[in-house]
Amino acid sequence: MMMNKMLGLAFAALLLAPVAANAADAPKAFDKCKACHKVEAGKHGVGPSLAGVYGTKAGTNYPDFKYSPAHTASGVTWDDATLTKYLENPKGVIPGNRMVFAGFKDEADAKAVIEYLKTLKK
Ligand code: HEC
Repeated sequence: MMMNKMLGLAFAALLLAPVAANAADAPKAFDKCKACHKVEAGKHGVGPSLAGVYGTKAGTNYPDFKYSPAHTASGVTWDDATLTKYLENPKGVIPGNRMVFAGFKDEADAKAVIEYLKTLKK
């Protein structure tokens, strides 16, 4: 009986594993972010970890990261509309912020990355 239960659990874990891996598949466009951003919760690079960032206010997701004053003071909340604009022109949306990224030219790239960001939970 006990053995059956354990086998059942192991089988359930096997079934769940591929689903978890899919959720973490980054779109090609995200390659441009990797130089500065990690997706593991709490791990920062030049930029803050992006885990859990969707839906937060700029500069509040990780209080231990040193955001620029301009970034924190912007009052921007990260949703589809603000992220699309930000990823197309970071300095245009938040003048004085420290993210050095020229911006996506193709809105499809921004969209793919935003959908990916939504899957990154803390
Ligand atoms: C050259 C480094 C660099 C690159 C490349 C870069 N970022 Fe950033 N990013 C930063 C820095 C630094 C900040 C913090 C800005 C500040 O505090 O002024 C930031 C902030 C952010 C924030 C806001 C985080 C928060 O908690 O408010 C998001 C979202 C973000 N970046 C997404 C991206 C995405 C998506 C890409 C790829 C398309 C990208 N970044 C590319 C350095 C970078």
